Amino acid sequence: MISKLVRRTILALALAAAAPAHAQSSAPALSLTVQTELAGPVINRDIFGQFAEHLGTGIYGGVWVGPRSPIANVRGIRSDVVAALRALRVPVVRWPGGCFAEEYHWRDGVGPANRRVTRLNTSWGNVLEPNTFGTHEFFDFIEQIGSEASLTVNVASGTLQEAADWLEYITADQATTLARERAANGRPTPWRVKHLGIGNESWACGGAMTVDTYVERMKLYAMFAHNLNPEQSSGNRFVRSPNAMQRIAVGPMGDDANTDWTEAMMQAWQRRDRYRWSIEGLQFHRYTGGPLGVMRDPATGFSEQAYATFVQNTYGMDRLISVHSAVMDRYDPDKQVMLSVDEFGVWLAPTAGTNPLFLQQQNSLRDGILASLNLNIFARHADRVRMAAVAQMVNVLQSMILTDNERMLLTPTYYVYRMYVPFQDAHFLPIDLDRGAYRSGDIELPQVDAIAARATDGAIWLAVTNIDPNRPAEITTRLTNVAVRSAVGEVLSAAQVDSVNTFDDANVVAPRGFTADASGGALVLRLPPKSVTVVRLTP
Ligand code: AHR
Repeated sequence: MISKLVRRTILALALAAAAPAHAQSSAPALSLTVQTELAGPVINRDIFGQFAEHLGTGIYGGVWVGPRSPIANVRGIRSDVVAALRALRVPVVRWPGGCFAEEYHWRDGVGPANRRVTRLNTSWGNVLEPNTFGTHEFFDFIEQIGSEASLTVNVASGTLQEAADWLEYITADQATTLARERAANGRPTPWRVKHLGIGNESWACGGAMTVDTYVERMKLYAMFAHNLNPEQSSGNRFVRSPNAMQRIAVGPMGDDANTDWTEAMMQAWQRRDRYRWSIEGLQFHRYTGGPLGVMRDPATGFSEQAYATFVQNTYGMDRLISVHSAVMDRYDPDKQVMLSVDEFGVWLAPTAGTNPLFLQQQNSLRDGILASLNLNIFARHADRVRMAAVAQMVNVLQSMILTDNERMLLTPTYYVYRMYVPFQDAHFLPIDLDRGAYRSGDIELPQVDAIAARATDGAIWLAVTNIDPNRPAEITTRLTNVAVRSAVGEVLSAAQVDSVNTFDDANVVAPRGFTADASGGALVLRLPPKSVTVVRLTP
């Protein structure tokens, strides 16, 4: 018997096929003004972070192939993936999980390769976890791509001593026994740890704890898991180093507006003894699903209505950040505690024929568009959202890169991250935007979404997403203090919103150059339907 779910999918596909490809094609005239003299907060480069978990082929196969692999590699880390990631200037990599972090024991993954401990990855399909990719391999990887570490320690099934020892092993520069062991394993100088995640989703896979239980444990980790690297520690607990490691505690469940957890965490923070323990961030995880719900919708072959639902659900990120930030504002009006959106992205039905617990999915133009909307949302909340990590980097969920043995492809989401590089550490500039409207069934959305910023070199950059899959947009663009002469950058679009890159045709969705010149004193950006455009505005 045909299930209700299958019937709904068939109906949605039939409706999509029946819809005219360009039902509405005229371009509404919209306007955008960048308030160049009103510099907002810095868009912290860490919001362009990535999440890499021991899950499916996210690490093994996707990043690590081993030194004896026929696939080109440096010390076991695949060179094609490293080269692609370098171009993204990935600021931080969150590792080793996710749920996996809560059963990870760092000692299993250090020392000679033939003495590493093999376990089962019970979070993700009971497959063998050989621990050949451990602490040294992770730091080698992030050094190769030019990034920094955002480590998550095991609060649920590990011990406080184990976490403190790991931090000492990684960061101590004095000749402690653990620092000497690190040196004997090939690394005399300490590494830096930018963020320390104190557990992962402790209300679910991280121990199913109540907030009160979590707070009592978290305080001990915040107090005793020391970063000893002299670049990050003053050596005096009364003086916090400007580069000090940021401790990120588990925050609320990001897919609802229940603020009890946030409230309890911020009360604990308010009562902190800052010379003994504090936290600098709250974790916030939120995945996006479509009409069928998280983990159910197909990666391709979806209807326009399903596309609109994904966009609408993505805007839920904005609403929920606002809700939780408002609670944080009551305790922390100066926004000392960041919201770290260190897991987000589109969570689709797994690719047919793959292990469903490997969370492998294709990545379409739609997903690139949703990535741009999420990045715009984070930028608009730049005063509170200072770290984010898309889930995940390679081969898992909304990834940057897909690999198949020796083959690799770059996804539309990858290209959006590459186009947004100028926004790293740029100053947010407010805009006046006539957003227009795009309707699909009973869903009403803005036609365009945009952010502007002044980059670290002083240049003004604009990112504009035309959400409408059918109509182009014409946007008359101005700067408040000076006439703008031209816009130069890149645009990402494709024939269909569900267009994807495949191993046989890896350039179906790829950015192309975009230029617009002012004429008659006005600069008009003509944006194709379903597109992301990032340009530098030249006065
Ligand atoms: O990213 C996949 C999983 O989603 C992570 O392991 C977990 O933290 C979240 O629930």
